[in-house]
Amino acid sequence: MTKTVSIERPDNLPRHLAIIMDGNGRWAKRRFMPRIMGHRQGAKTVKEIVTAVRELDIPYLTLYAFSKENWSRPREEVDALMDLLYDYLQKEVDELLGNRIRLRAIGELDRLPPRVKTLLFDTMEKTSKNFEMQLILALSYGSRSEITEAARKIAQKCVDGELTPSQIDEELFASYLYTSDIPDPDLIIRTSGEQRLSNFLLYQAAYSEFYITQTLWPDFDRKELLKALHDYSRRERRFGKTSEQILLRCTGSES
Ligand code: IPE
Ligand code: IPE
Ligand code: MG
Repeated sequence: MTKTVSIERPDNLPRHLAIIMDGNGRWAKRRFMPRIMGHRQGAKTVKEIVTAVRELDIPYLTLYAFSKENWSRPREEVDALMDLLYDYLQKEVDELLGNRIRLRAIGELDRLPPRVKTLLFDTMEKTSKNFEMQLILALSYGSRSEITEAARKIAQKCVDGELTPSQIDEELFASYLYTSDIPDPDLIIRTSGEQRLSNFLLYQAAYSEFYITQTLWPDFDRKELLKALHDYSRRERRFGKTSEQILLRCTGSES
């Protein structure tokens, strides 16, 4: 008889979980397989994790699926990743609708192949009335260009006389990012051991908690997810305050 390990749901869950899904290539290499096999297996992990996050009632999940820098990978790998994305959207739309999940995307979406872009926009439109959970795919995403683009738009508004430099504060700046109506990520998980952000949500991650696991993305599962969430739930987020202030819930004082 197989013993099932049940892990309790942690009390303090993140409102927004973001994941840097890394290690597909290494997963395949260890099995003497082509890299694309790792990506294919990684797509299966995406399904499992989306389902788990929905069941846990975490309202925002952002998945770093393809970076701006990833365009410089070999042509065959980029094409295979775009095909996988197309297949994912085609196969998962009913699942997303059934689970009341809204699909969104952040990044330079105009660079996606036309058929992928069309299906992506179609899926976003079809799921746009869902409010229980938002699944945000970071595609052709680069944080530095997101920030630069925001600065350019704000500068243009100033030139056009619609804004004055004194009106530019953190709130206004954030409203020009792709994530204008999405809360900052509370927890960022990176699989496969790398300790870097790789141009992901640089502005939004100012106070995010990090969790790095050696597990490669294709091996990451519900159990690993719960391990990360339990670790997060035990942390004290101080936002510059002292531990005593947090314990006493002294939220009224700025000093
Ligand atoms: C992550 O896995 C998937 C993408 C970046 C698209 P990698 O393909 O980066 O896997 P490694 O880092 O080579 O193992
Ligand atoms: C980051 O992974 C991008 C995604 C997970 C989509 P990479 O594997 O491309 O990151 P670097 O280049 O090794 O930092
Ligand atoms: Mg990688």
